[in-house]
Amino acid sequence: MELNVNERRLPIAPEWQDERLLWVLREHLGLVGSKHGCGVGQCGACTVLLDGAPQRSCLLPVQAAVGRRITTIEGLAAADGGLHPVQQAWLAHRVPQCGYCQAGQIVATVALLRETLRPSDAQIDAALAGHLCRCGTQQRVRAAVHAAASSGARR
Ligand code: FES
Ligand code: FES
Repeated sequence: MELNVNERRLPIAPEWQDERLLWVLREHLGLVGSKHGCGVGQCGACTVLLDGAPQRSCLLPVQAAVGRRITTIEGLAAADGGLHPVQQAWLAHRVPQCGYCQAGQIVATVALLRETLRPSDAQIDAALAGHLCRCGTQQRVRAAVHAAASSGARR
């Protein structure tokens, strides 16, 4: 069995094939950007993109991800290491505090901006509503999403 993660085909050892995707990404493949928050689909910290759509990886059996295109926070940067425009907007607006929720919020924003060129506050809030941030970064998140949208961040 293998997974397509960040445009690389990665073999999955047999002992990991009955796990949830999040644990395979973090513990088997060493991609620790996606976080384990609640583990039951309630916080959004584990969000990755599956064929471009946000997906809570703590809930997804890894076998359900076979043959799908998985993108994690580690896969957003360009080949030359340049940060994705959404990541740049996050830095410019100094969004993260503890940072725990941010990978999920960023990948969900990438998906939002691919669908909606200039999202309204209401559309941003709806897209990110399931992403809990105990540090209260929601206002900076919203500002950064608008900035990324203004920069044409649809990559
Ligand atoms: S860790 Fe997956 S939703 Fe909380
Ligand atoms: S930045 Fe700390 S939980 Fe969101």
